[in-house]
Amino acid sequence: MPDDFLTNSRIVAAYRERTPNSAACANEARDHFPSGLTHDSRRLQPYGLYVDRAQGSRKWDVDGHEYVDFFGGHGALLLGHNHSVVTAACHEQIDKGTHYGAGHRGEIEWGALVKELLPCAEEVRFVSSGTEANLMALRLARAHTGRETLLRFKGHFHGWHDHVAFGVSDHFDGSPTPGVLDGIADKVVIAPPDDIDETRRIIEANDDICAVILEPTGSGFGQAPVTRKFLQALREITAKREIILIFDEVVSGFRASRGGAQEFHNVIPDMASLAKIVAGGLPGGAVCGRKDLLDHLDFDVTVSKGLEKVGHQGTFNANPLSSAAGVATLKMVRDKTPTQDAIDIAASIRSKVNQVFVDEGVNWATYGQFSELHFFTNPENVEIDPLNFDFMSRKCNFFKKDAETVTKFRLGLMVNGVDINGKLAGKVSSVHTEEDADLTANAVKGALDMLRSEGALPS
Ligand SMILES: Cc1ncc(COP(=O)(O)O)c(C=O)c1O
Repeated sequence: MPDDFLTNSRIVAAYRERTPNSAACANEARDHFPSGLTHDSRRLQPYGLYVDRAQGSRKWDVDGHEYVDFFGGHGALLLGHNHSVVTAACHEQIDKGTHYGAGHRGEIEWGALVKELLPCAEEVRFVSSGTEANLMALRLARAHTGRETLLRFKGHFHGWHDHVAFGVSDHFDGSPTPGVLDGIADKVVIAPPDDIDETRRIIEANDDICAVILEPTGSGFGQAPVTRKFLQALREITAKREIILIFDEVVSGFRASRGGAQEFHNVIPDMASLAKIVAGGLPGGAVCGRKDLLDHLDFDVTVSKGLEKVGHQGTFNANPLSSAAGVATLKMVRDKTPTQDAIDIAASIRSKVNQVFVDEGVNWATYGQFSELHFFTNPENVEIDPLNFDFMSRKCNFFKKDAETVTKFRLGLMVNGVDINGKLAGKVSSVHTEEDADLTANAVKGALDMLRSEGALPS
């Protein structure tokens, strides 16, 4: 972005004027945290919002402004903020204790719900995050196959552990990012997503591949989507060569359908990693899948098979509080229709926003298959029809973005009362409403007006 962006843009000035208390918090935070941040993806220039409270589909910043929230707890909040069923379960559990250093009934119920909902889940092991779930899935795949190399896809995000810390937004050549060992990067191959011929070629040329991992909806929960055909072919190739297929369903689990992307596509992986919704918006995650794979964690089975057990600890695994929130949420997913409600209202929001693009003569679109919004700001200005945007054909380059336009549009949305993430993507909850859809469409119109007034929109 040009150096003068922060001083010259009227959108930045409007954001600064509206959010003085967020600015003060950001200044204070810089004394304590690198860049003042606690998560890289919360970075926003000139500074991010500081939020005071949230309820349902909305949140309020420390300056008292209300936002339609599409950050959605990084996708964890399928039921929106503070859903009464979840908060009641949490309050009850807090009064009974939050850590027993022992098994408890809640974890049994939680595990049973995961098994009931996720087709691949013959057994489950709870962890504390999506990063941990993927790390464990990889470790199990290596232990089971005796092979070492992991095949991943460009742009697919699996958390921040060493094996997945490159090739997501940079280092697409597979070289390690700072702090990651060459030896680890040497055991990871990065393939082009949705390219089955190249993926097959890589797999056939390398007999050391233990696992293939991917976001089964495509990177960024479908920002760059993959097709069902690709998933089916991948399933076939991996099964033939006894390579463990891992679906990272950290976002798509319980969101793409009740049983995740695997149920939606009817392509069943060997293992799946879960987090976010599985723990009802509290910290937590799980790895689940074929029993013979999870058996590598079993004290008795490994002895009986003459194997050395895979180790696994974790202070907060299946902690009673996360498990209470997880059980409450998964029961809603099983017994009611939050997954479909979120998908339906997301479609309505997208169509209202796309109508704004049409009315404004702006060659952009918002797209998505499930309960999400992806804004395509069309940096190459290709001809598209926002109301019939064929994003599955992937003819557009979803990786290319104009950073200045993205930041200005996002700030413009915030000034107009809508919060989405830095990839111009948002997660929709089951409690978003048509009123939220109208507010969002109006905010998009307001943000476009602001961009246009400073010459930041192609005419
Ligand atoms: C697809 C996917 N996998 C893994 C992760 C990592 O999960 P966590 O942040 O819980 O470690 C994320 C987080 O956003 C994710 O989107």
